[in-house]
Amino acid sequence: MGKVILVASGKGGVGKTVFASNTGAKLALQGHKVVLIDMNMGLRNMDICLGLESNVVYDVADVLSGMCRIKQALIRDRRFPDLYLISASQNRQKAEITPLHMKVLCNKLKRNFDYIIIDAPAGVDENLEIAGAGADIAVIITVPEYAAVRDADTLDHLFMDLGIKKRIYVINMVKSNLICSGLIPSIAEIAEAMKPEMAGIIQYDDNIHIAANNGIPIVYKEGTYIEKNFTRIIKRILEAI
Ligand SMILES: Nc1ncnc2c1ncn2[C@@H]1O[C@H](COP(=O)(O)OP(=O)(O)OP(=O)(O)O)[C@@H](O)[C@H]1O
Ligand SMILES: [Mg+2]
Repeated sequence: MGKVILVASGKGGVGKTVFASNTGAKLALQGHKVVLIDMNMGLRNMDICLGLESNVVYDVADVLSGMCRIKQALIRDRRFPDLYLISASQNRQKAEITPLHMKVLCNKLKRNFDYIIIDAPAGVDENLEIAGAGADIAVIITVPEYAAVRDADTLDHLFMDLGIKKRIYVINMVKSNLICSGLIPSIAEIAEAMKPEMAGIIQYDDNIHIAANNGIPIVYKEGTYIEKNFTRIIKRILEAI
């Protein structure tokens, strides 16, 4: 049976889509069968991050509302052995979708995939509850900003209330010179504020930003410090599931 990994944040723009797509790509490179699901209804962008924007015909709202079969919405990323995307819709909710619909979809996908990685929308509204309905673990992404850290802690409590027992967090966009200056929260301060275990830290790096904008998961190039760091973080997440 596969595992469902929810990638979420309270604050928007902290790197969920970049993290989820690279995690999916890395796991596929390691020989796992992976499906990425973009749950940003009305604001899809994982297709761009993977360079698959011209391949989207059916989306996750079509699957959840029964408009198409799962197979019809799976977009294969041919650069990787077994990586698929189910895109979000470009319109807001097309039909009435509930957390139960999502849980059923995850349970079906678990039979055929090793990992189902869900790119959640930012915020704490009902769309997050739908996105997280089938999650085995929540990976909370935060950045070294007091507002983002507080939002991450709020999200952690929400997931606890929703019954997502396994939670872990990642600090993204870390600029070491700024952290050393003492002008923004330190890693120790963030660790103090967060209850779950930390999976790792990702530096702010222009190459990550450039790769995402060109539809290339940065982990595709093996042996870089970024790829090695992603590999370590993913290992910790898998150990926590
Ligand atoms: N470690 C990093 N270094 C440099 N740029 C990054 C890094 N992580 C993400 N980015 C850039 O930051 C921006 C936001 O990333 P991304 O879209 O993944 O965030 P998000 O949390 O999914 O946003 P949203 O809440 O809007 O869905 C993008 O332009 C991305 O390329
Ligand atoms: Mg996103």
